[in-house]
Amino acid sequence: MNNRPRRNRKSEVVRSLVRETKVTTEDLIFPLFLLESPSTSIEVNSMPGIYRLGLEKMLSEIEECMRLGIKSFDVFPVVEEKHKDKTATKSYDDSFFYLKALRKIKQEFPEACIITDVAMDPYSSDGHDGLVDKNGNILNDETLDILAKMTLAQAETGIDVIGPSDMMDGRVGHLRQELDVNGFENVSIMSYSAKYASSFYGPFRDALDSAPKSGDKKTYQMDPANQREALIEAELDVLEGADFLMVKPALSYLDVIKTLKDNFELPIAAYNVSGEYSMVCAAAEKGWLEKDAVMNEVLLSIKRAGADVILSYYAKEFAKKS
Ligand code: PBG
Repeated sequence: MNNRPRRNRKSEVVRSLVRETKVTTEDLIFPLFLLESPSTSIEVNSMPGIYRLGLEKMLSEIEECMRLGIKSFDVFPVVEEKHKDKTATKSYDDSFFYLKALRKIKQEFPEACIITDVAMDPYSSDGHDGLVDKNGNILNDETLDILAKMTLAQAETGIDVIGPSDMMDGRVGHLRQELDVNGFENVSIMSYSAKYASSFYGPFRDALDSAPKSGDKKTYQMDPANQREALIEAELDVLEGADFLMVKPALSYLDVIKTLKDNFELPIAAYNVSGEYSMVCAAAEKGWLEKDAVMNEVLLSIKRAGADVILSYYAKEFAKKS
């Protein structure tokens, strides 16, 4: 027998020499949920170990993460019902806690990479990412103007990257132009290029209290059955000026990550979403899976598929253990 592939697996030292993929803390972005009340910290029911944090708590959390080597954060606002309306006005109100907090975070941690979320759903009384008309349709072009105001307000706080997660057509180009004409040509766009209408977002909507009040998101988020359509979305985002192309969720969409990686030169991001995190936690709580080992394997498989950057709720745990 000339070929014995097992020789390259015979010891940890040999295995580590031939290992093709390695996840490092620098690959990871940690999503954070911001609460209005500054000194509050509330665990998300469906996401063990993940907390919604007021600004004070979040500053300490970021400090701790930075020491562990996590330097990129995606901050999402938890908006109380009383602040929500049809047109998401709070999303571009300078005195709103999310925008004030972003400014403070950037002041305290200028060396961190702070990513914001651009979509109407946390601020919308309809719970949709876009503007809803009286027949329940999501209005594309009218939404772009609201997203542009939101983007500008976020850019003014000094953040590094905006993350449009809304899936309206033309939004990357529209937001790129809005940023550029206002002197924010250095603010990057991490576009949620292939964002699927997935059932894995449940725990996130729990955390933000942002589930749609009626209908679903299938007229704007992609059909989970489609891979080739991701090429159309990604190509448009490249032409419109995106800096990163994201696939979301990650685990059930590894083929999409690979397809985008093979077809585009921009960095590929993958969002290891809330449901993917919670599933592992739940099985681990039952003693059915070993959480750390499975999470490591999950991150590894997402990177192996082609992701350069991974957004994961597991980021801090990973950093602690590596
Ligand atoms: C909304 C948004 C969602 C997530 C990120 N931004 C949920 C949705 O589209 O309903 C999901 C993230 C996760 O599940 O971890 N614009």
